[in-house]
Amino acid sequence: MASFGFLLLLSFLAFCSAASFAFASNATLPYEEVEALKDIAKTLGKYDWDFSIDPCNKEGAGNWRTPAGPTYGTNVTCDCTYANNSVCHVTYITLIGQNLSGTLPPKLVNLTYLQTVNLAGNYLNGTIPKEWGIFSNLSSIFLQVNRLTGPIPIELANITTLELLDLGFNEFYGNLPPELGNLSKIEGLGLSSNNFTGELPTEFAKLTALKEFYINDNQFSGRIPDYIQNWISLEQMTMVGSGLSGPIPSRIFLPLENLTVLQISDLSGPDSTFPQLNETTSLRRLILRSCNINGTLPDYLINMSSLWILDLSFNKLSGPIPDSSENISSYIYLTGNLLTGPLPEPRSHRAMDLSYNNLTIESQAECRKTKTRNLFASSSTGNNSKPYFCVDTEGCSTTSKLTSILCISPNKLWWTPSFV
Ligand SMILES: *[C@@H]1O[C@H](CO)[C@@H](O)[C@H](O)[C@H]1NC(C)=O
Ligand SMILES: *[C@@H]1O[C@H](CO)[C@@H](O)[C@H](O)[C@H]1NC(C)=O
Ligand SMILES: *[C@@H]1O[C@H](CO)[C@@H](O)[C@H](O)[C@H]1NC(C)=O
Ligand SMILES: *[C@@H]1O[C@H](CO)[C@@H](O)[C@H](O)[C@H]1NC(C)=O
Ligand SMILES: *[C@@H]1O[C@H](CO)[C@@H](O)[C@H](O)[C@H]1NC(C)=O
Ligand SMILES: *[C@@H]1O[C@H](CO)[C@@H](O)[C@H](O)[C@H]1NC(C)=O
Ligand SMILES: *[C@@H]1O[C@H](CO)[C@@H](O)[C@H](O)[C@H]1NC(C)=O
Ligand SMILES: *[C@@H]1O[C@H](CO)[C@@H](O)[C@H](O)[C@H]1NC(C)=O
Ligand SMILES: *[C@@H]1O[C@H](CO)[C@@H](O)[C@H](O)[C@H]1NC(C)=O
Ligand SMILES: *[C@@H]1O[C@H](CO)[C@@H](O)[C@H](O)[C@H]1NC(C)=O
Ligand SMILES: *[C@@H]1O[C@H](CO)[C@@H](O)[C@H](O)[C@H]1NC(C)=O
Ligand SMILES: *[C@@H]1O[C@H](CO)[C@@H](O)[C@H](O)[C@H]1NC(C)=O
Repeated sequence: MASFGFLLLLSFLAFCSAASFAFASNATLPYEEVEALKDIAKTLGKYDWDFSIDPCNKEGAGNWRTPAGPTYGTNVTCDCTYANNSVCHVTYITLIGQNLSGTLPPKLVNLTYLQTVNLAGNYLNGTIPKEWGIFSNLSSIFLQVNRLTGPIPIELANITTLELLDLGFNEFYGNLPPELGNLSKIEGLGLSSNNFTGELPTEFAKLTALKEFYINDNQFSGRIPDYIQNWISLEQMTMVGSGLSGPIPSRIFLPLENLTVLQISDLSGPDSTFPQLNETTSLRRLILRSCNINGTLPDYLINMSSLWILDLSFNKLSGPIPDSSENISSYIYLTGNLLTGPLPEPRSHRAMDLSYNNLTIESQAECRKTKTRNLFASSSTGNNSKPYFCVDTEGCSTTSKLTSILCISPNKLWWTPSFV
């Protein structure tokens, strides 16, 4: 069997090149994998891999491994411990942010030992090759931020070793194949910002290894499924503008002890009361924005010590805002509800948006009590229901006073967008 080292030797002899190759070991990459890499490069549009350098060489790797940042990087890595350290196989390919404008290579499967492929942040178009279904060692596929399209091929469901699949920020469409429910090892599924339609398949109830599930910005239909309560390892879930409708099943989060990020927004469907989150005590970020939630705010929320961002804007929450018993520092967004009663003590938050509610605010002086609250139109005056514009104009220039929304709270530059 020919090998990478053998090829190099041939070219050395043929061209009498003066170049010398410092091989770290005698282990070699099989000829089939070298040929596959050439084919893969052509399909992707990767033109600067230097095939005169052994990609498995741990040291001088040329363009096979370049310095990486969060949005770019090249890394081809081999495992050279096969057959008594005499044979290498490519196990890892990362080509992030390389301006690749080709398509996904079906020949990737000829790298039969491949565990990770990461082609995020390129301009790749076309569809996911059905051929990829025969991968038998692959654990991670990252294709986010490309121009890929088509439905998810049913064949992907045959890669039962898959743990991470990120297809976010592409132009994929169609229904999710129910067969994906067979990916029993899947821990991360990223489908955000595509054009997926249809309901979440009932077979997804079996995805009990899931830790992260992202379906923001899609065209799904149907209700948020009850079976999410089976995903007991879930740590992060975001369904911001997913197309799914409510109500949020009340008890689905009770078993999810490790949930730290829960973000849901823009649900259609009937009103319902606040879902039970009293057992998910590790929550750091809770966004239930425009979810048709009525009834009162649960007392335990304000005291969740790990909570950093709480956004319950644009619901139908009524009743008073519970006071915190201790100093916690979170950003709290309650704008656009029907909350009543007095202003809460400032200690329960770092910053609080209470605009567009129905609180009892007695005076302009109270509006100024703290600079960490946006109280614009947070109160209606006495017996008429006109909003009381609780506006802090300190620091506004005379000309812009009250004319610009930005000037309403010139000292409130702490405002952070809640969807970061
Ligand atoms: C490479 O092979 C040569 C001869 O076959 C041997 O002497 C040498 O120890 C080997 N080197 C390594 C790093 O295995
Ligand atoms: C890739 O594998 C397929 C079958 O698995 C085989 O037919 C083909 O010849 C291989 N191609 C290369 C370049 O090794
Ligand atoms: C390339 O990836 C391998 C496998 O994840 C890793 O061990 C190695 O540090 C990476 N090298 C570079 C230069 O990023
Ligand atoms: C691996 O090396 C050991 C000792 O060096 C030898 O006994 C064994 O037969 C070798 N195995 C293979 C597959 O070459
Ligand atoms: C990709 O294209 C951009 C803009 O032309 C350029 O700044 C960047 O260096 C390119 N990246 C690579 C890896 O070629
Ligand atoms: C990918 O984009 C290129 C250039 O824009 C275009 O020529 C090609 O037809 C596209 N391929 C697919 C499969 O969409
Ligand atoms: C998946 O694998 C099974 C058995 O390994 C096979 O019967 C089936 O045809 C494959 N399905 C697809 C869509 O490749
Ligand atoms: C998304 O799908 C809808 C309905 O199938 C279609 O009307 C729309 O054009 C698609 N949008 C994109 C960006 O592909
Ligand atoms: C929750 O996280 C802890 C610590 O990482 C871990 O030991 C535990 O198994 C996790 N629980 C579940 C249900 O996954
Ligand atoms: C959470 O609420 C449920 C139902 O109201 C209750 O059964 C459970 O004991 C509560 N758990 C905690 C930790 O308070
Ligand atoms: C919340 O809305 C539901 C459905 O419309 C209704 O049955 C329930 O009485 C409402 N609860 C409150 C507290 O308004
Ligand atoms: C605001 O609350 C007052 C009583 O505190 C009530 O009379 C009024 O109808 C409420 N306004 C709205 C818009 O809910």
